[in-house]
Amino acid sequence: MATTRQLRLGTILQGAAGNMSAWRHPAAVADASINFEFVKETARKAEQGKLDFLFVADGLYINERSIPHFLNRFEPLTVLSALASLTTHLGLVGTLSTSYSEPFTVARQFASLDHLSNGRAGWNVVTSPLEGSAKNFSRDKHPEHALRYRIADEYLQVVKGLWDSWEEDAFVRNKESGQFFDPQKLHTLNHSGTFFQVAGPLNIGRTPQHRPIIFQAGASDDGKKLAARHADAIFTHHDTLEEAKAFYRDVKQQLEANHRQPDDLKIFQGVSIIVGDNDADV
Ligand SMILES: Cc1cc2nc3c(=O)[nH]c(=O)nc-3n(C[C@H](O)[C@H](O)[C@H](O)COP(=O)(O)O)c2cc1C
Repeated sequence: MATTRQLRLGTILQGAAGNMSAWRHPAAVADASINFEFVKETARKAEQGKLDFLFVADGLYINERSIPHFLNRFEPLTVLSALASLTTHLGLVGTLSTSYSEPFTVARQFASLDHLSNGRAGWNVVTSPLEGSAKNFSRDKHPEHALRYRIADEYLQVVKGLWDSWEEDAFVRNKESGQFFDPQKLHTLNHSGTFFQVAGPLNIGRTPQHRPIIFQAGASDDGKKLAARHADAIFTHHDTLEEAKAFYRDVKQQLEANHRQPDDLKIFQGVSIIVGDNDADV
């Protein structure tokens, strides 16, 4: 019997492009990274084209040599919240770093986006590769790679625990009896770990998706390990089919080792699409 498989596709909000000079093209919108009309139009086209999600990448440090798109762009959760009320089906995926934020705040922010969008929020979990980020967050030192991933792992345990604070039907809001919530359906986290001490519960209820979707984009062994433990989807990029297949096998095997099913983690390979009528056009 033939099985129907569905291809999942997303697009990145690339603004003034992912390189130094594409903004100079005659057809380019030079201020696209900070132009909300352009953003709305991109979201509208993505939704019309039946894409699964719109993805907003992010970083926490710039200097005068950064690409134009990095110099002047929207913060992901802010722009996705604005898009939540202008779209109806498009997944809204934003990047936020576990090295420079607090789990309680981030759990709240993504839970809020999931409520605002009626179940379309996704979080691209990154650990921030840029050393200069430390200088923007009152830190002396950027945590090294392995440490960043240890922090990220505990961070995700905390965030997921906070998202489980309330059962789906915890808020009974019975005006007659005066019962607002069912205490049996409230679970306080009381997390005490190596990096985080978080009591909880979270001050927002169970989200429409149960919890926001977790993406992971780190390509290293630690990145893949984090994805296999926690993520629903992974962003990756490979130049050859062989490399992509090896990556796929590795990640799916690690999923099994974590007692998860192969379909529990979707793999999104990045592609740059050049539109033309024939090869000569490209
Ligand atoms: C499609 C895609 C999107 C990514 N988006 C981001 C991003 O928004 N912010 C970021 O810091 N890194 C992003 N990355 C890069 C990874 O998070 C990571 O920094 C890089 O792959 C290095 O991996 P490692 O930290 O596991 O060594 C992205 C990677 C891919 C393939």
